[in-house]
Amino acid sequence: MSLKELINGLKKNSETNLSQTMNKVVLGEKIVQDGLPEICRKVASEGIVLLKNDGVLPLNQRKKVSVFGRVQYDYFYVGYGSGGDVNPPYHINLMDGLKENKKISVNESLSTTYEKWCKANPTKEGTWGKWPRYYDEMPLQKQMVENAEKESDVAMIVIGRAAGEDRENILEPGSYYLTDGEKKMLDLVTTAFEKTILILDTGNIMDLSWIEQYGSKIASVVLAWQGGMESGRALADILSGDVTPSAKLTDTIAYHYEDYPSSKNFGKWNFNNYVEDIFVGYRYFETFAKDKVQYPFGYGLSYTEFEMKTTDFGVKDEMASIEVRVTNTGKEFFGSEVIQVYVEAPQGKLGKSSRSLVAFQKTKELAPGESEKIHLVFPLTNFASYDDSGITGHKSAYILEEGNYKFYIGNNVRTETVCGEWSLHTLSVVEQLEQVSGVEKSSVFSRWKAVLKDGHVIIQEEEVPTRTSARKTIIEQKLPKAILSTGDQGYVFEDVKKGKITLDQFIAQLSEEELEAITRGEGMMDSKLGTKGNAGVFGGTTQTLRQKGVPVIITTDGPSGIRLSYYTCQLPCGTALASSWNPKIVYQLGEMTGKEMQMKGTDVLLAPGMNIHRDPLCGRNFEYYSEDPHISGKIASAMVRGIQSQGVSACPKHFACNNQETMRNRNDSRVSERALREIYLKGFEICVKESEPWNIMTSYNKVNGVWSHYNYDLITRVLRGEWKYQGNVVTDWWMQQDRDPDFKNVTNNAFRVRAQVDVLMPGSKRWGKKAGDNSLLSSYHKNGITLGEMQRCARNVLQLALKLQKHNR
Ligand code: BGC
Repeated sequence: MSLKELINGLKKNSETNLSQTMNKVVLGEKIVQDGLPEICRKVASEGIVLLKNDGVLPLNQRKKVSVFGRVQYDYFYVGYGSGGDVNPPYHINLMDGLKENKKISVNESLSTTYEKWCKANPTKEGTWGKWPRYYDEMPLQKQMVENAEKESDVAMIVIGRAAGEDRENILEPGSYYLTDGEKKMLDLVTTAFEKTILILDTGNIMDLSWIEQYGSKIASVVLAWQGGMESGRALADILSGDVTPSAKLTDTIAYHYEDYPSSKNFGKWNFNNYVEDIFVGYRYFETFAKDKVQYPFGYGLSYTEFEMKTTDFGVKDEMASIEVRVTNTGKEFFGSEVIQVYVEAPQGKLGKSSRSLVAFQKTKELAPGESEKIHLVFPLTNFASYDDSGITGHKSAYILEEGNYKFYIGNNVRTETVCGEWSLHTLSVVEQLEQVSGVEKSSVFSRWKAVLKDGHVIIQEEEVPTRTSARKTIIEQKLPKAILSTGDQGYVFEDVKKGKITLDQFIAQLSEEELEAITRGEGMMDSKLGTKGNAGVFGGTTQTLRQKGVPVIITTDGPSGIRLSYYTCQLPCGTALASSWNPKIVYQLGEMTGKEMQMKGTDVLLAPGMNIHRDPLCGRNFEYYSEDPHISGKIASAMVRGIQSQGVSACPKHFACNNQETMRNRNDSRVSERALREIYLKGFEICVKESEPWNIMTSYNKVNGVWSHYNYDLITRVLRGEWKYQGNVVTDWWMQQDRDPDFKNVTNNAFRVRAQVDVLMPGSKRWGKKAGDNSLLSSYHKNGITLGEMQRCARNVLQLALKLQKHNR
């Protein structure tokens, strides 16, 4: 990249996304949805992962605890940016939570020292994209720590981190690594105390290799994630044993950052080659580098123990079915366990990851000695592979290669318990598709492939297949037919709802200007047409549309709760939700959030965030769920179903491959079609098919050379064509300007509408002088975009309006 390009890139980056403002002023009373704080607490505690425990937890009144680390007061409740900017009525920090819990006794004098110091040395909030990733520690003296040891039985150290939107984690102390202050604290405390409990309050994985240097001195490790406004209570519930930990990791924690397969191709400015292909997270580690793993995917301890016995296994009618009896074999604690099923597919010609998560279920809370029978049924398609090169003779198809399939059952990816095997004698084509969004010829790179050599699976490099499909012809062949324009016939939108006229009759009345207006938001965030602090509105954005009864559709962020200038609940971060491995409770959280949306006056929650954790440094990982698409898809579906059960809309985002924040709206994610389908799109596919979201948001980045908001392949062919998505598609906030490479008269909004990215949000005003950008209508007048295409987007928007209206909003 030349210096000029670099500067332009930076300028554009800041023009388009660094200038959001946080909702600082809070209005109204501290009233939130009844019951939502309780669910937040429950989910937050179900998301806390116990990584190590040599018996020091749970705490009880007999074990007085000395808590070190300023984060006990200055807690990181969630990450930064649109996914964190919520105004909760209160925050419960760790110390509040501990003090409130009757089973826990804290060293009060130490806690007072910290409290005073924190007040005297307040944290700085920072501005957009420049928020603090950590806070400086209170300097500790040896004597002070030794005094604390005399007064208490056990130490607790809390370390906190946050990253966010436009705020990547970095390989520096205070982000991925410990600061000197934290190291000193760890050294002094573990020298003075025999046992220390380590609490990690972070939205992202950080380097934890140092834990092992402290040996048995660090007796327990609790990965609390960021639990939202109820963080402290949820943590105290776990620490006191009021709640038995049941969370499991949704990411692999490797010893070193450099061990992650993406690490050499992450954070680049122009583009990243997804060289590791499908070998993301545990798919890489379990296949090629088991010894690099500190804590494996799916791992998490409990206070009690469980036994899992497979009682039945079978494959019939393309479905696998496993019956398992889970027993709490402990004597003291109630608890829930997560049953995880992984498949080991034959390496075949494609090469496979040695494990893939194909099903999971959490038990109910089991009393000591109690059992539960769990029945897992899942389609074989859950573990089909996509042939993007044609090596199997079935190009562009999902297939199951012949050979032996082994199913493992257990409570983390390392389980070696085989619960069943299944042999396939001849290759089976599960689904024949067409090539979409392959890597451009000019961008070809080498990707990893698994091959079996001398009984071992090794990495071999091969050239990534490139795009051959003729986009222009496909578009031309599939242009939608226009409805004959009738001009205004006096019908209003209510007539459609009452069944007096069809939606198409209503659309036929819309003028060119109305068709144009309906494909973009009103133009700004915090629109006056919506509740204060909203992210923008669309739908009835002009007077004439409103006169025809088209409602104003209000959007608000986001994954951590409703982002408005009013008090709303701050939810646990996405990774915490997923770590619960409990779609049922996530559904309840969504349901209550949907009720709060009704109460606070918003139609579309810009959530869940569900991009894959490709790399631990991605700043927005806290909003997202996992390195694995299966659990991401299941948790997202639960959230979407919950929200939409209340007659309001979710908006899964960012479709697709928003896997880093660095130059997020200039960057190109270059990825094979196989990895795209099996990893990066798969979670969205599960979510779309299982929960039918009413909205989806595209991402800022390019995917294989095409910005997501112009991506006909991803939106029209995959999302709407293959997955039968019926909802509306919005851009991420603002978009890049570009010309359709195949049609010279199609630029910007026309390019977007052609892809069926229905609505530019929050509108076009950010294009400075090009405000009111007329690219859509000028393209229409030059035989570029067609009337049918404009009407098609209008239909997508109005269908959403009908759904929202149907629920009497
Ligand atoms: C973020 C989205 C968010 C939108 C509106 C963008 O910068 O990427 O996730 O929903 O802003 O706040």
